[in-house]
Amino acid sequence: MEHDLAALLAELEEFGSTNDAATDDRSRKMLNITRDTGVFLALLVKATRAKKVLEIGTSNGYSTLWLADAVGKDGSVTTIERASDKRAMAERNFRRAGLGSRIEQIGDEAGRFIGTRDAGEYDFIFLDSDRGQYADWWPSLQRILAAGHLLVVDNATSHAHQMEDFNRLVTASDGYLSSLSPIGKGELVILKEDA
Ligand SMILES: C[S@@+](CC[C@H](N)C(=O)[O-])C[C@H]1O[C@@H](n2cnc3c(N)ncnc32)[C@H](O)[C@@H]1O
Repeated sequence: MEHDLAALLAELEEFGSTNDAATDDRSRKMLNITRDTGVFLALLVKATRAKKVLEIGTSNGYSTLWLADAVGKDGSVTTIERASDKRAMAERNFRRAGLGSRIEQIGDEAGRFIGTRDAGEYDFIFLDSDRGQYADWWPSLQRILAAGHLLVVDNATSHAHQMEDFNRLVTASDGYLSSLSPIGKGELVILKEDA
C-alpha cells in the first residue's frame, strides 16, 4: 500500500472514531469497519483475485478504499450509498486517494439496485448496510455473486441478533459454505460453491 493511502486511512480512522463518539444521530455516524477488517477484506480480495467487487454501504468510503486498493489497476469497485452527504464525503476521499477511476458510486436503495444486476456479475461482495433487509436481499445476492466466489458480511457478532434470519437462510441454502471470523465486528464469510 502506498504511503499516501496509508496516511489517508489513518486520518479517516481518527475522524470516524471522533465523529461517531460526538453524535447520537445514527445518520451522522460513519460506522466504518475496523482497520483489521480492512486488512482482512484486502487479503480475501487478493487471495481470490477478485476484480469486480460490489460494496453495499459506502458511508464516507473508508472500507471502499481498502477494496479499491486490493483489486489493483485492472479491477473495479461498485459501491452503493443512499445518503447523498456521505456519497459526497466518499467522492472526496476517493479523489484524495487517487483511486476514483476504479470506483463507481451508486446513489440508490441497495435492494432496488442489486435487483437490476446481471447473474454472476460480481466476484466479491461486501455487505455493510441495513441489516434488517439482508434476508430480503438474499435471493438477489445469490444471483449476482459469481460461483466460486465470496460474500462477506460485517457486524456478524456485534449485531448477531439482527442477523439471525439472514443466517438461517444462508445455512438452509444449498451450495453455500459459510464461516464466522471473529475479526473486527465479526465477519461472516460465505462461499458460493461451484456447481
Ligand atoms: C455501516 S455504514 C457503511 C460503512 C462503510 N462500509 C465503511 O466501513 O466505511 C452503512 C451505510 O449504509 C447506508 N445504507 C443503509 N441502508 C441502505 C440502503 N437500503 N441502500 C443504500 N444504502 C444504505 C447508510 O446510509 C450507511 O452510510
